[in-house]
Amino acid sequence: MTHVKLHPASKGLKGTLSVPGDKSISHRAIIFSALAEGTSRISNFLDGEDCLRTIQAFREFGVRIERDGTDVTVHGQGIQSLQAPVNPIYFGNSGTTARLMSGVLSALPLFSTAYGDPSLSKRPMDRVVDPLSEMGAEITGRDNAQYLPLAYNGKKLKGTTVQMKVKSAQVKSAVLLAGMLAEGETVIYEKGITRNHTEMLMSQYGVSLDKQSNKLTIPGNQQPQASDLKVPGDISSAAFFIAAGVITPGSSITIENTGLNPTRDGIITALKKMGADIEVEQVEKVGHEPVGRVHVKTSELHGCTFEGELIPNLIDEIPILALAATQAEGTTYIRDAKELRVKETDRIRAVVDNLRALGADVEPLEDGMIINGSSRLTGGTVNSYGDHRIGMMGAIASIIAEGPVTIEDKDCINISYPGFFNHLHEVCK
Ligand code: S3P
Repeated sequence: MTHVKLHPASKGLKGTLSVPGDKSISHRAIIFSALAEGTSRISNFLDGEDCLRTIQAFREFGVRIERDGTDVTVHGQGIQSLQAPVNPIYFGNSGTTARLMSGVLSALPLFSTAYGDPSLSKRPMDRVVDPLSEMGAEITGRDNAQYLPLAYNGKKLKGTTVQMKVKSAQVKSAVLLAGMLAEGETVIYEKGITRNHTEMLMSQYGVSLDKQSNKLTIPGNQQPQASDLKVPGDISSAAFFIAAGVITPGSSITIENTGLNPTRDGIITALKKMGADIEVEQVEKVGHEPVGRVHVKTSELHGCTFEGELIPNLIDEIPILALAATQAEGTTYIRDAKELRVKETDRIRAVVDNLRALGADVEPLEDGMIINGSSRLTGGTVNSYGDHRIGMMGAIASIIAEGPVTIEDKDCINISYPGFFNHLHEVCK
């Protein structure tokens, strides 16, 4: 286990930084490129541990993938060229790899097995196994295929109508990928709006798909075509520095090359609602994704209520939003976020326990939390529980805490943000 002791930064955050590539888009870029016909070049790929699992998974299927830092070249030879892997595939800590690959592996006429690390092995897989089974998938696994390890007796699936039971982009994407490979048409009725990167990339890789309000229709038997792609910076990573700039006195910071997809920018909406001085400048469209600069200044925040449709739009940012709320005047309520219970760790428990350990006044709810601000954070120890976003929340807390903050198991931050501590040192003056 690795620890780091961080000391408060008194003069605020200054300067400009560019965060690494988006995790969700990096996974999907590999998936479409590996299934495609032709060579795809991906730049600004997130070389974090999770996305490397997706690369490794396709290498096990015989796809040639070359990586030079954040540049990746995928030599796709089409769906027919994939070969059954000899060994079990290791999904590591990556829920996105596990869920999206389940859609692909169950729909290819190949046998494969997969397992994960202790955290991923506790996360629900029945949410993808159930709708895929409705399409004819044969997936077996631990506890009735509720959990990894799973075995995929892959075969041609049949398009059907799927009613989403959870608001989850991972489940939607698994069904979309399976539908793309199946016989006939697949119709998905979404339960709510979730990140739409799979849909955007389908269009980029020549896969047809129709979207009418909450109804997605995808014809089967489609072969993606190679495409070059630049991955925008990850707003979920930028969120840590956006919130840090807002809550640290004397800050003025710009985060460049930030993905601004409207299904992902809820953290900006939420912080602005609390009174944050954030200016967003959309600079370009990269593929189908809007990308821009985010300028942030120290702000006086007030407590707010966050619930309903906004929650899926900032689900990964709730740990850092909760930290920001400890610095707001008044009470912040976060509700409808029960999904946090089944993330890399139980993030409601992890956020509440760690913020309390630092001196904040936070109460857990079954589906969220109540944060009473504003609190002076004393410092102390943050247990990341091996969860990258909890580790980064603790590191940002250290900037404003009165005493040092020790982060236990800091290396998990490499899952989504390699170079995080370098960036932190660069902007903390
Ligand atoms: C992701 C979707 C979200 C998110 C995860 C990445 C994706 O999970 O929390 O970090 O890339 O599709 P759910 O789909 O389970 O909400």
